[in-house]
Amino acid sequence: MKILSVVGARPNFMKIAPLIRAVGAWSAERRAKSKEQRAKSIGQDGKGRQALAHVLVHTGQHYDACMSDSFFTDLAIPAPDYHLEVGSGSHAYQVGMTMIKFEEVLLKERPDWVVLVGDVNATCACSITAKKHCFRVAHIEAGLRSHDWTMPEEINRVVTDRLADLLFTTDELANENLRQEGVNPERIKLVGNIMIDTLEAQRAKAEGMDLDEIIRTNALKQDHSSFRLPPSALNSIAVLTMHRPSNVDSRAILEPLVDLLLTDVCGKMPVIWPIHPRAERQLKAFGLWQRVCENENMILLRPVGYHEMLTLNMEARLVLTDSGGLQEECTVLGTPCVTLRNNTERPVTLVENGGTNVLAGNDATVVRGAILEALDAGRAPSRPPLWDGHTAERIVQVLGC
Ligand code: UD1
Repeated sequence: MKILSVVGARPNFMKIAPLIRAVGAWSAERRAKSKEQRAKSIGQDGKGRQALAHVLVHTGQHYDACMSDSFFTDLAIPAPDYHLEVGSGSHAYQVGMTMIKFEEVLLKERPDWVVLVGDVNATCACSITAKKHCFRVAHIEAGLRSHDWTMPEEINRVVTDRLADLLFTTDELANENLRQEGVNPERIKLVGNIMIDTLEAQRAKAEGMDLDEIIRTNALKQDHSSFRLPPSALNSIAVLTMHRPSNVDSRAILEPLVDLLLTDVCGKMPVIWPIHPRAERQLKAFGLWQRVCENENMILLRPVGYHEMLTLNMEARLVLTDSGGLQEECTVLGTPCVTLRNNTERPVTLVENGGTNVLAGNDATVVRGAILEALDAGRAPSRPPLWDGHTAERIVQVLGC
């Protein structure tokens, strides 16, 4: 049986790494069993022939070394079998080019399953292409809904889930979303969160990393090359990630947020900001870049690798973010998280559902209040059912049978 899986952008890589490992382990086990049966001259039970072949396609939506290559190295993901080199562009361009280029690979490889993860443009483009050619599609991280149609990711999620034959979900709330949309329950498999497989596999390495060294190595500002956090800042840093168009593409929203960060948050503690290329571009376009660079407590980093980000999260007193995956990682690590959005497709991470996450939107006054509350909260790790590091094994079990 042949499985073809797809990655496109940064948040996909930590979801595909455990899947590839689990496919390898499944195949090795099947081959060993088959050899044993042959040696004993007993008939095969059928499972012996079920070794899984795997083909990896990278659409190239993210292409900078720090947005893509570093994750392949850090997470031991094998080099892609196909690189479509789609690159940046409008949504129509990215989705259209991915469909055209992916179709060629699909018709050449003719896989038994196309496995897609998450909600980026690659996910949506490849699900449409695969189903138009009647290939079976499995979607990992299905059923998440923000109900916010201004988010391109919401469109990607809904389209992919509507088309997929198998819907692998992270939690019961996602299952409920799918049931409400009329999805046949037989297509839904609650398997847990595959991203947490990567977190569990990599946390020991991240725990061994040195925060000062991460800052020195990744600092965007020259004067951080010999950086050391003052002792007063230990266990009291904020980590910021912000890249969504809804936060960074409008000056009316971005400027008050930057004011708040530079005055209120940087006034209390160092803020470490691994900055996404889109955010950097927009800060420069709105003339805010100089101010952000000049603040001594604002520590700008280039986009950091997986382990570095995990270390930052583990060391943070507070995470401020508009990312999806970070909300989940904060919940498992117990880091208080203020999400700079009005909604989340991951409600299982919210404080009212047992997580550490609070939705604050992007109005500076509301965000200020949420930050003060989060600073009072201590670390409180929590773990939704099946977020146990073994999600990929459950997925492969379903696909392989
Ligand atoms: C994409 C995903 C988003 C995810 C984010 C993580 C979609 C619709 N959005 O958004 O869900 O949270 O990835 O980063 O798929 N750029 C570079 N180098 C790169 C890639 C991009 O400089 O390697 C710059 C380009 O100027 C590009 C911009 O970043 O135009 C935005 O990249 P894009 O892939 O369009 O979307 P993201 O904002 O990264």
